Amino acid sequence: MVKAQKIRESELKQHIGRENEGSSLKAAHVVPDTVKVRRVHSESIEDEAWDLLRDSIVSYCNNPVGTIAANDPSCPSILNYDQVFIRDFVPSGIAFLLKGEYDIVRNFILHTLQLQSWEKTMDCHSPGQGLMPASFKVRIVHLDGDDSATEEVLDPDFGEAAIGRVAPVDSGLWWIILLRAYGKCSGDLTVQERVDVQTGIKMILKLCLADGFDMFPTLLVTDGSCMIDRRIGIHGHPLEIQALFYSALLCAREMLAPEDGSADLIRALNNRLVALSFHIREYYWIDMKKLNEIYRYNTEEYSYDAVNKFNIYPDQIPHWLVEFMPRRGGYLIGNLQPAHMDFRFFSLGNLWSVVSSLATLEQSHAILDLIEAKWAELVAEMPFKICYPALEGQEWRIITGSDPKNTPWSYHNGGSWPTLLWQLTVACIKMNRPEIAENAVRIAERRISKDKWPEYYDTKRARFIGKQARLFQTWSIAGYLVSKLLLANPNAAKILINEEDSELMNAFSCMISANPRRQRGSKGIKKRFII
Ligand code: GLC
Repeated sequence: MVKAQKIRESELKQHIGRENEGSSLKAAHVVPDTVKVRRVHSESIEDEAWDLLRDSIVSYCNNPVGTIAANDPSCPSILNYDQVFIRDFVPSGIAFLLKGEYDIVRNFILHTLQLQSWEKTMDCHSPGQGLMPASFKVRIVHLDGDDSATEEVLDPDFGEAAIGRVAPVDSGLWWIILLRAYGKCSGDLTVQERVDVQTGIKMILKLCLADGFDMFPTLLVTDGSCMIDRRIGIHGHPLEIQALFYSALLCAREMLAPEDGSADLIRALNNRLVALSFHIREYYWIDMKKLNEIYRYNTEEYSYDAVNKFNIYPDQIPHWLVEFMPRRGGYLIGNLQPAHMDFRFFSLGNLWSVVSSLATLEQSHAILDLIEAKWAELVAEMPFKICYPALEGQEWRIITGSDPKNTPWSYHNGGSWPTLLWQLTVACIKMNRPEIAENAVRIAERRISKDKWPEYYDTKRARFIGKQARLFQTWSIAGYLVSKLLLANPNAAKILINEEDSELMNAFSCMISANPRRQRGSKGIKKRFII
């Protein structure tokens, strides 16, 4: 297996080497217009960010293949921050694409694809085929029987070495999203058309679309399967995964080559898109009106036409939410399970629901309205709070298992992450409200470079550099650059955005009108929509 892997790797190396030799892909669909970049006082911050981003590049056999997670010379414990993380590379990749530097992204896509089929086991158990690693490292190994000769190998981590042994469900979804962005930006569609790349897309889809025990169209995952990769009570159906899943399904549908063999997969994908958007838009959405509805819910309804389908007890509405919910605006809750709504606001899930059109147009505007109304809570002194509010006291003890890294208002538990700037920017540009992102960037610029580009900030108002935050964290640097590049050339954000699909919208409105919540008293209509 390992030998076969090595052979495939060396074939790929040769192929990529050849491609890089003559690599000037000029036929761009979305021409990165860096010439027109508005010159503002932050020019030197941008220059510094570019220098740091380039310093973080990891090479494999003399070709750039990714960027290291953090490059903090002051930090004695490296842990796995010297690796290339798939999710962390996305803003780096987008920054390079927007600069017209396509090779590193193509190499990253093709090399991580090779890792997808790697044999992975934890205590004799192998996870599903199609899983993408959380991260990988370039290792130098001695050749068999020859101490003087070495070669480089790529060594992936699928969660079998990661803290908590968490499976990175988001990696494959981000990979698909980046692959589409690469094609759209460079105009080079030959990568997505390759047989091995098409197979890679299908393997990810099959893993995500496989039947299980679930009653919901949302993806069922364990705690810590995404950017928040430690225990914090997001097992089940967390919003972030659902938003990335929806986006990846749409991106994959655009890229899959039509062929008889994939008709079933495309049918399953379309059905899932309809069911998923209906489920999230209907059941995850809260605003003042919906909150008041939940407050007055009847419980224990046994029937097909229950209004309170998930048997949510109104007492679950937390005190903080009564204060937090603005009169104008709303958001998608963090998670929905039987008799359980996680009312916390999770930023990435909400922002990517806007970007991918998982949220309706109205909901997307309402999410941005809420961000504006709750600026002091979500942005304050450094954008952007990863989730709101923090878990405290007994709740923190039970839900995080007394995790000392995730103390209240730190790290994943209400910390502020500069990298989230880029997703905020894409969402604002999509909704034609770039000024919100511009304000956030301005706030970041006050400190981010002086503070040495930390991974995250602590406290309610993000006043301190995170207790255990790495400095020179690459996705903080790249996230800032992507925001700047996109604000200067908003048209380029199209490479990441999924526009609302009219077929989906039709199917969605049919489901809405058949929903018993809106038709109390009428016979529960059971309908299936096959596109
Ligand atoms: C932390 C973050 C994770 C990130 C990794 C590398 O584990 O929680 O999202 O990918 O660091 O930066």
